[in-house]
Amino acid sequence: MTAERLPNILELTPLDATFREHPHQVLDKLRSRCPVYREEAAGTYFLTRYADVRATVSDLEMWRDPLRAEEAAVFQRRMLENSAPGETRAETTSILSLDDPDHARIRQPLARALYARVAKGRKNVERIVDVALDHLVDEPAFDLMARFCVPIPIDVIAVILGVDHERLSEFRDWSEGVIQGLNPFRTAAQTVHLERARPALTDYFTEMLERRRKQPQDDLFSDMTRLQAEGLPISDAELRINLSALLVGGNLTTTDLIGNAIRLLLKNPNELAKLRANPGIINAVVEEVLRYEPPVDITSRIASRDIEVSGCPIKAGQSILVSLRGANRDPEIFSEPHRFDVTRKHRPHLAFGGGAHICIGAPLARMEAQIAIMRLFDRFPDLLLCDPDEAPEWRTLPFFRGLQHLKVRAG
Ligand code: HEM
Repeated sequence: MTAERLPNILELTPLDATFREHPHQVLDKLRSRCPVYREEAAGTYFLTRYADVRATVSDLEMWRDPLRAEEAAVFQRRMLENSAPGETRAETTSILSLDDPDHARIRQPLARALYARVAKGRKNVERIVDVALDHLVDEPAFDLMARFCVPIPIDVIAVILGVDHERLSEFRDWSEGVIQGLNPFRTAAQTVHLERARPALTDYFTEMLERRRKQPQDDLFSDMTRLQAEGLPISDAELRINLSALLVGGNLTTTDLIGNAIRLLLKNPNELAKLRANPGIINAVVEEVLRYEPPVDITSRIASRDIEVSGCPIKAGQSILVSLRGANRDPEIFSEPHRFDVTRKHRPHLAFGGGAHICIGAPLARMEAQIAIMRLFDRFPDLLLCDPDEAPEWRTLPFFRGLQHLKVRAG
């Protein structure tokens, strides 16, 4: 085994068939052989041990902006967006890739406004889930991804933002296009989609900012234009890019959380039975899905100073990818890590990352998943997989873990 070569970066993504089907065989082996792995071709470290991943994402001095990565960090630097003359960094990239002081200046008020919207949005989520279920009641079998998991997060974030209902299908198309910005291995066709979607979304958001400034409504666009009018130092370009980051960041990820959860519960009837016997554990169920099958595989940081990770030196400017998926199955932290156990006592998973960049949408994703799962099983108590022996077909977007299809029968 020692003679076996270590995987390259592509072999650590769902673009590789072995990783797609058996990611934990690859990650477990890497964690035990080389937990602080330097992938030279991509110019990055790749961490798989829970303690290292947690310490890295929680380190508030680490950088996030790929611009600060050394030239050799080719993987990180492929993420760099082209900026037009006169545009500042904060106008060309969302909080996802910004460092302080811009990160804190934009994230703090946005997070406050978003959390307030989420806190009063429960009824909307319930309504949206119920409407999606109403469309399914007379159908004996359906693809749960296309009919339930995909539309719900888009509709929810659209309502929070204040997007017009009649523009929803365009939104789906645009957000699918824009998410290709996260795909460093995108094809020419995906790049075309990205380039078509991005200006369309920008135009629509420009129009929304204008309309809400003139006539505020009960939505996040209005919250942010009001704060801006009250003196919050944030430009229209910054608002546009960050509000669209909510749309893009929230859609596919939450879709995958719901899809992964339903599949796991249907594949593990004993765990589903525990939920049915005690619906009060829905919170624990969603947390165990986030640990066991996190929708986002990795996140990244750039070392802001020379550091040591588990005894390995990493220099300032070097890129560090952290495997959230690998950390979540580290046997040093989780007993029987490969067992899906909704009543597990200790599950401090890292599915939402950590530190200053911890997912801003986590409370929303959790709420949506909890409501979607409960209501689906209430409405379809005898739900079954159409073919329980069929291997799952995973999407091939790097670093996301989600199903292409989830074919189910009403019972
Ligand atoms: C299950 C669903 C989701 C998962 C697994 C997920 C995962 C993540 C992860 C791993 C990060 C990077 C954290 C880090 O580097 O430490 C992140 C950041 C982010 N997420 Fe999520 N996310 C989800 C849902 C959402 C939703 C619903 C939204 C929007 C409403 C959202 C918006 C964002 C944004 C804007 C960031 C950047 C935050 C920053 O850098 O300050 N995500 N998410």
